[in-house]
Amino acid sequence: IKQGKQLYEGKAKKVFATSDKDLVIIHYKDDATAFNGEKKGQIEDKGVMNNKIASGLFELLKKSKIPTHFVSHLNDRDMLCKKVKIIPLEVIVRNVAAGSMAKRLGLKEGTKLKTTVFELSYKDDSLGDPLINDSHAVAIGASTFDEIEKIKKITFKINDILSAFFLKRGIKLIDFKLEFGKTPDGKIVLADEISPDTCRFWDAKTNEKLDKDRFRRDLGNVKEAYIEILNRIG
Ligand code: C5P
Repeated sequence: IKQGKQLYEGKAKKVFATSDKDLVIIHYKDDATAFNGEKKGQIEDKGVMNNKIASGLFELLKKSKIPTHFVSHLNDRDMLCKKVKIIPLEVIVRNVAAGSMAKRLGLKEGTKLKTTVFELSYKDDSLGDPLINDSHAVAIGASTFDEIEKIKKITFKINDILSAFFLKRGIKLIDFKLEFGKTPDGKIVLADEISPDTCRFWDAKTNEKLDKDRFRRDLGNVKEAYIEILNRIG
């Protein structure tokens, strides 16, 4: 497969066309941002680690018949994926209160939730990815009710698979963000990445944070946390 022109550059990744019109190369960078791009930095080798972690998790999900955009891990920083049209929604699942939900609802981080929370945000940097509900998503044309139902079903299945997988490795999956895309034939597939950039991982024994919150909150040992996740998965 030959790399073609750059199609898109995001905060943590670049997307390139390839010699196959249905495939793209996703290139993982070391850039880290937080608070809608207000805080910027680099985490050494993050791109390499996230590419490995995400590839492993996409492989795991594939085994459980979850449709994803992942095709193969090409090299240190590049992943081959199906070309999809991204649905402009950030799908967030919360097993334990943390981050923006803890803040918004005045809950102590780590509070157990009586049910798993399914959240949608409208993916728009200029608006700061506002929290929306399913009717907002349909009203603005971001998605359809039918698609959201499908996304919800796949998302809860992913939560079950990933929660069990990480718990076996001594990690609590607190919350995470997913993005979905549509293939040219209209099929909804999991896209983007799953990594310590997009999940909250807490050590099951100590509750130590092993994810991007170490960067967001200046907790130190950021790279070490990513290495720890990679080692426990490996
Ligand atoms: O900040 P908040 O608590 O809403 O984040 C919930 C989850 O979604 C966290 O795991 C965070 O890493 C992830 N997230 C993300 N990209 C965003 C917002 C949140 O990956 N733009």
